Amino acid sequence: MKIKLICLAIAAGIGLSTQVHADRLVSELIKPIEPAVVTAPEKVELGKKLWFDPRLSMSGFISCNSCHNLSMGGSDNLPTSIGHNWQEGPINSPTVLNSSLFVAQFWDGRAANLQEQAGGPIANPMEMASSHVLAVDVINSIPQYREEFAKVYGSKEITIGNITDAIAVFEETLVTPNSRFDQWLKGDDDAITQQELAGYETFKSIGCVACHNGPAAGGTSFQRMGVVEPYQTTNPAEGRVAVTGKDADRFSFKVPSLRNVELTYPYFHDGAYWSLEEATDVMARLQLGRELQEQEIDNVVAFLKTLTGDQPTFTMPILPPSTNDTPRPQPFGIK
Ligand code: HEC
Ligand code: HEC
Repeated sequence: MKIKLICLAIAAGIGLSTQVHADRLVSELIKPIEPAVVTAPEKVELGKKLWFDPRLSMSGFISCNSCHNLSMGGSDNLPTSIGHNWQEGPINSPTVLNSSLFVAQFWDGRAANLQEQAGGPIANPMEMASSHVLAVDVINSIPQYREEFAKVYGSKEITIGNITDAIAVFEETLVTPNSRFDQWLKGDDDAITQQELAGYETFKSIGCVACHNGPAAGGTSFQRMGVVEPYQTTNPAEGRVAVTGKDADRFSFKVPSLRNVELTYPYFHDGAYWSLEEATDVMARLQLGRELQEQEIDNVVAFLKTLTGDQPTFTMPILPPSTNDTPRPQPFGIK
């Protein structure tokens, strides 16, 4: 009889705890990141080569990885990026990690998806400074690339559409599952500390989660920077209004993901703040009208660091060599 009761109690206990855990996945507004499902491994390999290939730039020196360094959280850790001819970029380079989860690409959302986005930097005179025609010519002049494109796309002709498609499919694999926070979401109570949990509670109770939600803890909407108090910056970017033309969208930006945020400093579209403590303080004051205590800030920052997930790992691609027909790189001066 006694044993039966204990068994019942244990069963109820187990039932209760799995219930709590299942509830977290439903009730919490931040959802776990799922590992990438690779359905076209050869396309991913091709996209990875193109991602690392600086020959897509006029100088032959700048690749996607130059400004979205996968050894540094998919960012360049600079306030604004350095482009062709050492040009100072206009805006902070956002991470590419988990970017397949975002509602749109760029701070102002002007590209609908990753493929559309990838065509931008190749031809941007301040970034890779090539052109789509030149990029296709370069890739087309390399027989090993021709073979790979033929195998993956079933056509001898290499197009910019195929180049950007392969890059986008590679980027879709750049997700960061298994963060300690996700382990907690999935039911492991010990995955985060009491302080980190307290930080998450503050993050929710004061309203950060209203904008930073979904699997990427951001990337789901465009929001004004400076809801309660204006943001002071010398950066001329005006945000979403550049796309919609609506005055209400002035100074509205895509809410950045907070995944891996401890790796992607400096913060905000102008890269003006280097520490998460400062960024949290700015957010609390400007977006929510809240003056947080030092302890609360420390707790929130501790929570933010639990959002760092497994970084993408892979073997570095070996790029096929250029041929005598390959247009030569032009490192100095814009032609
Ligand atoms: C010279 C630096 C530089 C290079 C090279 C570069 N990018 Fe970027 N990238 C940026 C900057 C800066 C932004 C933000 C621009 C904006 O929002 O107006 C950006 C934005 C992005 C985004 C959008 C992320 C988001 O959260 O909205 C993706 C994806 C991306 N780049 C992928 C690529 C790919 C693919 C390549 C190579 C074909 C590439 N980038 C080359 C600097 C660079
Ligand atoms: C009203 C929506 C909103 C709220 C509420 C909000 N944020 Fe943000 N958050 C944004 C937007 C928009 C940006 C980008 C602003 C920019 O770069 O100009 C941002 C940027 C950030 C960044 C910098 C990320 C990066 O990569 O540059 C951090 C960190 C951050 N928020 C944390 C928080 C915290 C912590 C809270 C609560 C104290 C919070 N946010 C509340 C909308 C919001």
